[in-house]
Amino acid sequence: MKLHSRHLLGLENVTADEINLILDTAESFREIIDRPIKKVPTLRGVTVLNLFYESSTRTRISFELAEKRLSADTIGFSPLVSSVKKGESLKDTVRNIEAMKIDMVVVRHSSAGVPYYLTHCVESNIINAGDGSHEHPTQALLDLFSIRKKCGKLAGLRVVLIGDVKHSRVVRSNIWGLKTMGASVAVCGPSTLLPYEVEKFGVDVYTNLDEAIDGADVVNIMRIQLERQQAGLLPSQREYTNLFGMTGERLKRLNKNFTIMHPGPMNRGVEITPEVADHESSVILEQVTNGQAIRMAVLYLLSGKKEQEG
Ligand code: CP
Repeated sequence: MKLHSRHLLGLENVTADEINLILDTAESFREIIDRPIKKVPTLRGVTVLNLFYESSTRTRISFELAEKRLSADTIGFSPLVSSVKKGESLKDTVRNIEAMKIDMVVVRHSSAGVPYYLTHCVESNIINAGDGSHEHPTQALLDLFSIRKKCGKLAGLRVVLIGDVKHSRVVRSNIWGLKTMGASVAVCGPSTLLPYEVEKFGVDVYTNLDEAIDGADVVNIMRIQLERQQAGLLPSQREYTNLFGMTGERLKRLNKNFTIMHPGPMNRGVEITPEVADHESSVILEQVTNGQAIRMAVLYLLSGKKEQEG
């Protein structure tokens, strides 16, 4: 069993067998992270460029650590201290770095479609680390992995994605991945932050949080981007918190053995109260740890290496 593409651009066209392959491979890498010496020689000789045109804490560090723990050579790239400041284009930037002989590019960019565009510019394997409002496939894979680890399954679970559904690449990738794996998916947010014809994604749609989370197994709470208020899409932060904030009181509506998730970064006291973020049913920090194992699995499977060593 192999992945059908040598790039990971999104989860929209990734099959259940491929998702299972990535999650199962990540299980073996997850064990390596807990070892005293967290390093295997699996990607020795492979060079990975981390091309982050947009800020990131979790994804960038997680990819960097995943690469180092697989013994790959890694290059960090920040446009702020590069010749992008002198006007060099994205295409020329990547082609010049590839001329120094790299194998894979992990890219984050504020424009949707940049990872796809890069597949036409260079020979390297491309991994999408978040492109505009389009997709964030490794985030969704780590979310699926974390749910499967906690609940023992994905099929049949009721998962509610809450917040800025319209602009969230995490929501979009989660919808594709969760539906492919047989979960029942609902989205909930203010009508101004729901995409046009969102029901065509095959999800249940709510604008009332209390109704949405009734009997939910998993709630995945998205960061509310405060600039949306300036754009007139939110009445006020306080009203958003009253209507859509996940509070301790609201946890009573969830199914027994519920799971709380958030991809980070969190606005504590806005979309999630500290009580919920730090609740014993929260897997927010486990998501971050599991993200490294998912990224190790994706790097390994896309690298075309035949077997895992060490
Ligand atoms: N979840 C996530 O993508 O976080 P970062 O923006 O910090 O990478």
